[in-house]
Amino acid sequence: MASLRAAELIRLARRARENAVAPYSRFRVGAALEAASGTIYGGCNVENATYGLTVCAERVALWKALSEGERDFRGLAVVTDAAPPATPCGACRQLLWEFCGDLELILANLDGREEHCRLSALFPAPFDRSTLPER
Ligand code: THU
Repeated sequence: MASLRAAELIRLARRARENAVAPYSRFRVGAALEAASGTIYGGCNVENATYGLTVCAERVALWKALSEGERDFRGLAVVTDAAPPATPCGACRQLLWEFCGDLELILANLDGREEHCRLSALFPAPFDRSTLPER
């Protein structure tokens, strides 16, 4: 991924992180998902008193994009204050794989550290529709 594009996705993920609703964990996450249309959808984690109904930043960005009709995706930046930069959780890996395929990922933190990889590197043996019988 060209570094200018990566820098822009990181900037938008950082901005989305500022809206994180994380009073329980105090772990703030921001995501920026770039659709093939060129539109970039931001997302932050949203926690609530049940804990279990928390939604990750990656999924908020993904639902926003899908609900606007997007179906093809180019890249995703995730920004946290973790070192090394945090990777998407298992549930998000599954959903990103199903809706975005082998997406380019940029994992960054507030110290300016950034790592690049493909989703397949984090999710190497997926269960997806190719496993299911034809309908
Ligand atoms: N979180 C995310 O937003 N994305 C991830 O991939 C990992 C975890 C959030 C959920 C919760 O609000 C907080 O981080 C701590 O788990």
